[in-house]
Amino acid sequence: MTAERKDQHIELALAQQPGIGANDFDAVRFVHHALAGGDVAAVDLRTSFAGVHWPVPLYINGMTGGSARAGEVNHGLAIAARETGVPIASGSMSAYFKDPSQADTYRVLRRENPDGFVLANINAETSVEQARRGIELLAADALQIHINAVQETAMPEGDRAFSHWPERIAELAAGAGVPVVVKEVGFGLSRRTLERLRDLGVPAADVAGRGGTDFARIENDRRRLGEFAYLSGWGQSAPACLLEAGGLDGIDVLGSGGVRHPLDVVRALALGAAAVGVSGRFLAVLVQEGTEALIAEIRRWQGQLTQLMALLGAVDVPSLRRTDVLITGELAEYCRLRGID
Ligand code: FNR
Repeated sequence: MTAERKDQHIELALAQQPGIGANDFDAVRFVHHALAGGDVAAVDLRTSFAGVHWPVPLYINGMTGGSARAGEVNHGLAIAARETGVPIASGSMSAYFKDPSQADTYRVLRRENPDGFVLANINAETSVEQARRGIELLAADALQIHINAVQETAMPEGDRAFSHWPERIAELAAGAGVPVVVKEVGFGLSRRTLERLRDLGVPAADVAGRGGTDFARIENDRRRLGEFAYLSGWGQSAPACLLEAGGLDGIDVLGSGGVRHPLDVVRALALGAAAVGVSGRFLAVLVQEGTEALIAEIRRWQGQLTQLMALLGAVDVPSLRRTDVLITGELAEYCRLRGID
């Protein structure tokens, strides 16, 4: 049952990719200053958050594990992470906690990528003891906890009780033994949620906004009667979340959801993300074109990221935040309604 769901998630997420066109990232425009450019050779891509140091501000975000197919996908993703040096997150490890015979479909992330930065991924129902087992299986450097009330609601077999999540998250943040990053799965984290997470002791959060993979649609497409079709498009985009998070102290913010190309990475970094995660787009390259193609794609993104930073005169990630950015269209309207300047 779980393995079948994991395979459906991969197939349905892939089917969405060709349709992902315009999103809120397009509303983030840089003012062009023709003499502001720096030198590619001087650009430093390193980033840090919550005591974690990464060589690049780009990572492969949590996707899969828990079926033979998921294991094959993780095998390819792990090799791409190893060859490019980008950090990588596993998919939810609940399938492993339910059925330990699925261990290898996750463990491959570490086996193929022994020196890389690996994040284990769990849900907010997971006990500290289980989380520690998951971290141990992957020799994980950090822990992602996903919060996905919209997805659970749209899932016939989903959870129906969410009120205990904050307490569980606080326990996990205190007891995991590695840095914790709480993330959404494509519906965004509001400023209020980020403040709550900070107060629960969470050092970092990935807003994982809408505009890319849509899990309300995925869960809806898994059932015969599209009962929650109207939830598609729910939530806030990554740019909206990052703008709203501006100036928030005490929690570091990562950005993901709907990232389509290196310019979206630069946009998210300029809006304050410490690093930017990609799921659906990298999955599509891997499954449709193979591991070598994904390695080439990630290298291309790293190269273009450096070039775009030089174009904008930003020598490093913090200086990107000082570039001139214009917010247009519906995203500007969102900012106005939420009182963001
Ligand atoms: C996901 N995502 C996800 N997130 C998570 O925290 N745990 C998980 O198990 C999964 N599973 C999963 C499977 C597949 C096939 C995809 C494509 C995605 C969500 C993912 O991490 C991310 O938040 C969203 O996909 C939005 O980012 P993109 O796809 O628009 O880049």
